[in-house]
Amino acid sequence: MIRSVLVMGMGRVGSSLAPWLASGGLEVRWWNRSPLDAELLDLLALAGVLPLDPTEPAPELVLAALPEALLPAVPGMLAKMLPGALPLLVHTSGGAAPELWSDYRGAKARMHPLLPFTARGQHLPEQPPVLFLVGGDEMAARAARELVLRCNGRHLDAPVQLQPALYHAACVLACNFPAFLGASAQSAFQAAGLTPHQSTEATTALMASMLELAGRVGFGAAVSGPASRGETPILQQHARALAATDAELAAVYELLAATILRRRELLLDGAKGNQ
Ligand SMILES: NC(=O)c1ccc[n+]([C@@H]2O[C@H](COP(=O)([O-])OP(=O)(O)OC[C@H]3O[C@@H](n4cnc5c(N)ncnc54)[C@H](OP(=O)(O)O)[C@@H]3O)[C@@H](O)[C@H]2O)c1
Repeated sequence: MIRSVLVMGMGRVGSSLAPWLASGGLEVRWWNRSPLDAELLDLLALAGVLPLDPTEPAPELVLAALPEALLPAVPGMLAKMLPGALPLLVHTSGGAAPELWSDYRGAKARMHPLLPFTARGQHLPEQPPVLFLVGGDEMAARAARELVLRCNGRHLDAPVQLQPALYHAACVLACNFPAFLGASAQSAFQAAGLTPHQSTEATTALMASMLELAGRVGFGAAVSGPASRGETPILQQHARALAATDAELAAVYELLAATILRRRELLLDGAKGNQ
């Protein structure tokens, strides 16, 4: 059973996962390139997460929460930081190639959180449980799964033939783009005359009910609105109205609407008789 973890990188992901891991009873240490601000230092200290101390025994597992482009350099950084140690090496990237760290002599794995992190020291919810995609060398993947379960998270096991770029693109489609579209809808509601509060309420109500419906009938069947009904004149009217305030958003709207129009036959029956 893993007892000690070093989290490398106190960015949005590392500084949020470190206290979460400590809450599962792990001894967690942190390392970061730059000094941390006082508020984050307090948050980490309160959670029992302390800076890496080279005089202590080396951690059993290192979680590299660093940009994908920097990951190939991690084994070299570790060799200087923890000379002679060969901890299990795990990263949090969705898109990193399986060949990453192929020269590393220890076991390595991916532990990708399916959660948006937008701030350092972000509190992770208990419900729904934090979900991770875990895969890699058996020993490191088993340890990563164990960490997740100890912290009351859940994991999906990565298929051996995972295509990381496609998987990561799917994460962006499922999370980042809807958030952007939600922000765009808020702005459009305001431009249409709603107050900021009403705009937030309208956007949240629509997105939450769409998610609830998709949970029951599937995402394809939850696609509603004029594009799913083939109402081209209405779509053109919308694009003109949007273009008056945001030409780029109008172009995005037209492209999405055209894609739904072309694919509406493929969408499930839920597209019929909706709003
Ligand atoms: N954000 C998300 O929603 C999310 C979700 C799932 C997975 N991920 C993955 O998690 C990883 C970390 O993402 P993040 O959002 O936490 O990034 P981030 O907030 O930008 O943090 C980046 C971290 O990397 C460090 N860093 C950057 N360049 C460095 C260098 N040259 N040498 C040493 N340290 C360096 C930064 O240190 P400084 O403090 O010194 O700048 C910081 O600790 C990425 O692989 C990302 O794909 C992110």
